Parts: sequence; C-alpha cells; structure tokens
Amino acid sequence: MNSKYYSAEVNIRQRRSHILAVYKSAIATLKENRSLLVCYLIAIVILLGCAIAYALQPAPSESIVDSLTHPVYVLAVCLVSIGLSLSLLYIIGRPWYIGRISRAFIQAGVVNHADEPPLLTEIRRTKFRGCNDCEELVFDARGVPITLIEDNKGALQTTINKYILAIQDGSRPKIYRMILAPDVNGIPAFLTWDKTYLSVPHNTLTLGVTYGNMPYLVDLDKTPHILVAGQTGSGKSSALRVLIYSAIKKGDKVYVLDPKSGTDYPTYIRQHSTFVTTIDEFVTVLQAVETEMDIRYRILGCTDGAQNMTMYDAITGSHTPRIWVFVDEMAQITGIRGSKPDIKKKHEAAIASLVRLAQLSRASSISLVVSTQRPDMDVIPGLLKSNINLKMASLCDFNLSTVIFGDRRASDQIHTKGRFITDDEYQSVFQMPYITDNDMI
Ligand SMILES: Nc1ncnc2c1ncn2[C@@H]1O[C@H](COP(=O)(O)OP(=O)(O)OP(=O)(O)O)[C@@H](O)[C@H]1O
Ligand SMILES: [Mg+2]
Repeated sequence: MNSKYYSAEVNIRQRRSHILAVYKSAIATLKENRSLLVCYLIAIVILLGCAIAYALQPAPSESIVDSLTHPVYVLAVCLVSIGLSLSLLYIIGRPWYIGRISRAFIQAGVVNHADEPPLLTEIRRTKFRGCNDCEELVFDARGVPITLIEDNKGALQTTINKYILAIQDGSRPKIYRMILAPDVNGIPAFLTWDKTYLSVPHNTLTLGVTYGNMPYLVDLDKTPHILVAGQTGSGKSSALRVLIYSAIKKGDKVYVLDPKSGTDYPTYIRQHSTFVTTIDEFVTVLQAVETEMDIRYRILGCTDGAQNMTMYDAITGSHTPRIWVFVDEMAQITGIRGSKPDIKKKHEAAIASLVRLAQLSRASSISLVVSTQRPDMDVIPGLLKSNINLKMASLCDFNLSTVIFGDRRASDQIHTKGRFITDDEYQSVFQMPYITDNDMI
C-alpha cells in the first residue's frame, strides 16, 4: 500500500529532486542528532573497513583466473559497501511516516486528478511563532492545490491525529509546507489562535483542544463561570486573552478588571472592552453589571417559557449579548489586609458584587472568569468559589493542586504551559491556544 503511493508515477525530475531532498534531510538529521551521527559513522567505518580488509588480502591462488577475478570481487565489495552506506543515509532521511501521511491525504480526499496524494519529501524540526518544537513537513504538491488541503484540514487532522498549525507555500513553486504542533499524550503541546474557534453557537465557548484534536467546548448556559488557576507563568493571563478576544469577536459586552494593570492586554482588548484597573472603577463596573442582571431578570419574569436569556432570544427572536466580567488576579482584590478603612470598604463592595453575580447571574447570560495563582479561602471567598462551575488549572505543585481540586491531578498531569485540567465529570485535559497581539485584528 505504502510503496504504491510512495513510488507512484512521479516523473524522473520529481524523483531526482525527491531523492536529493531525502539526502539533504538525512544530513540535517545527522547534524541535529549526535548519537545517530556516531552510530552512522561507526557503521560506515565497519563497512569500509571490511571492504579495505578484503581488498588488501592477497589473491587466493597464483592461477591467472583468480588474479583476474580478484580485483572484480574487490570492486564489487567496495561498491556494495558504498551502496549500503548510501542506503543507510537514505533510510535516515526518508520521512518515516510517509505511508501514514499518504493514506491520510487519500482518506481525506486530498488527491490530484490521478488520485495521488502530495508527496512528502522532508520532515524537520522548526520554530513557528511561539512554538519551539514544531514539525515541518515539506510536500511536493503533485498538482494538488493548497486550497484543497486547507478545505480538508479538519479531516486531515483527524486521520494523521496531529494538529495542523499552518499550511503555507514552500520555498519553491509547487512545494508547500505544513506545520504540525508537537504532541504530548495525544494533545497538541502548542496551539496557535484559529478563527474556527469562534464557529460555535453563541452560548458555547471553545476553551481549547483535547484528545483526538477535538475542541473542548463549554455550554455557557450550564457553565457560565470559570476559575482559572495555576502557578505564576503557567498561562492564566494568556488564557484570559483568548477568552476576552473570543467574547469581543462574538459581539459580547466585555469588562476586564486588571488590578495588575500590566502589559498582558494589548491595545485591541483595551479598545474593544471596558478595561479598568482601579478599585473605584471595579466597584462602578460590577454595580453596573448587577443592575443589568436585575433588568434581565425582570425581562425574563415577563416572558412566559423563558428560563434564561438564550430561551428568551429564541422566543422573541432578539439577540441579547452575553456580558463577561474578567478578573485577572483575584488576590489583588481580596488582599486587603492593612488597607485604610475606606479602601477596605471598596474592596469588600467589589467582592460582595462578584459573589452576588456568581450566585445569581446564570440565567441572565452573564459570565465571570476569575484568575488567581492560589485559590484558597483568603483569595476566593467560599461562596464565590462554590458558585463557579468550572475550575481549570495549569502548572501547579502538589499543594496548589490540592487547594484547587482536593487532589494531585494538576501536579501529576500538567507539565506544559497553556495545558489545563478541569473539575468537570471527566477531569478533562485540554491545550489552550496561544494568541499573539498580531492575531488580534
Ligand atoms: N497556551 C499557551 N501555549 C504556549 N505557551 C503559553 C501559553 N500560555 C502561556 N504561555 C507562555 O507562558 C508565558 C506566561 O504566561 P502568562 O503571562 O499567561 O502566565 P500567568 O499564569 O498569567 O502568570 P502570572 O501569574 O505571573 O500572571 C507566556 O508569555 C507564554 O510564553
Ligand atoms: Mg498573569
């Protein structure tokens, strides 16, 4: 099966450039992998050593026939040794899962008029945006248009069971490159932002990608509030950036409370949301959201059969935007020990509003997303924590995992930035996409 596609009717020029590409790839692999290089050199020394040893042997007898055939044998042994050395180099350079990739293309219907898939010529490690350990696959197009690959990206991902970060034109015409995310336990270890994450119903949120390249989705009518936890640098603010951008793009009303007032949030987010950084502004914003919640409940009360805003929209044909309140680092709001009484009062008012929203806002299409390094009682009041339906945590030590989940699931299972484990019924694990400032347009 493999050899059929592998040696399919590629014309001689294609075949020559393919063989050259395989040797180039072998040399690159040997340069990168020292132990493989040492093994290869040892094999060459043994092969050539045997050939030289054989050549230096005197002819077995004095007869004229033997003295004539001996150099022929020597030549044959030398040629076999060189052939074996080149074959070994070819095996090292040959993209090892060429057959699997070819089958994946055929299964996904990405073939040319003669039912041939593009020809994989090279696989190498590459850096792609923030990902340092991506795989780059180079293909000879063989008449397959790049748009056909883009259109069948989902099916290809499923068949090769890897996440495709990009498909681009290559360095020469009719060559293109595909960037695959590295894989950790079947989940991509790095994900770039992709606008397909937004192609979900309005009350659904894509948090990332889980096993089998399946999106990890949240039904916001059932699970409106999210707690994002994890040690410093584990990817909490980056996760919030993705969620904030998704909400903005869906036309929702977004409030961002960033007490750290750091540089985590680019101009796009500051311009398209109500972005506040001081406690006075927090209190005002939270009270405004509470008022909006009360108004929405009054509207629901007057509409028969509408148990939540999604049902209300379906009944009345209207579109009520979801309201999002994002709080990046809850400890900055709750850590009020030693503050002056008037400041303390404002913090307490903000906390009271957050608790009330968490308790009551489920049916009113209002969502809270709260991040913190350490969600213990001092940082997240019990009533707030217990009303947040989904807890997701990234890198944690044993103690932190225990504070969040009551067990060591995060410290045991999460070892990559942007990878999260949840307290849903399956204890799902997913990778969050990483969105750059340039992606936000
Ligand atoms: N989804 C992701 N994929 C890959 N790398 C990521 C991801 N999220 C974050 N990172 C990397 O981790 C770094 C730190 O992320 P981030 O600032 O979001 O951490 P944090 O948890 O908010 O930290 P702190 O608690 O100190 O605010 C980022 O600059 C980025 O390099
Ligand atoms: Mg942060």
